Amino acid sequence: MKMFRTGLKSMDDGHMMVLRVLEEISRDIAVSDRDEARRKALLLARCLYAHFQDEEELMMSFFYPRAGTHIENHNAALTSVFAFVDAMESEAWTAAAENMIRELKTGFFDGLLRDDVEVARYMGGLRETSGMAA
Ligand SMILES: [Fe+2]
Ligand SMILES: [Fe+2]
Repeated sequence: MKMFRTGLKSMDDGHMMVLRVLEEISRDIAVSDRDEARRKALLLARCLYAHFQDEEELMMSFFYPRAGTHIENHNAALTSVFAFVDAMESEAWTAAAENMIRELKTGFFDGLLRDDVEVARYMGGLRETSGMAA
């Protein structure tokens, strides 16, 4: 997976945390521990929710013009994770968990990261024009 940094520590830390939980879920799948995988998937949803809230507050504080679509993408990601958590109650939980990991890593996670990089660039531009310290 293409992993790139936004340059904003709190954002990058949030993304690393999400990736760590995904790795842990992969390990739970490998040892067929559905309960633990589901518990971690819920933890993942909680991490994502907290991370998205932080980003949304940041965007609002800077009057970020593309906050609307960015927030829509956050909500779509969370909705998708909850659908996978539900699907992990079924017999096909392994496939659901694997699809969740794949989707987060290759699909919208790349899109979400792109959104975040744009926010970081926008903030960097504001700093340059206003002379704010980094
Ligand atoms: Fe974001
Ligand atoms: Fe993010």
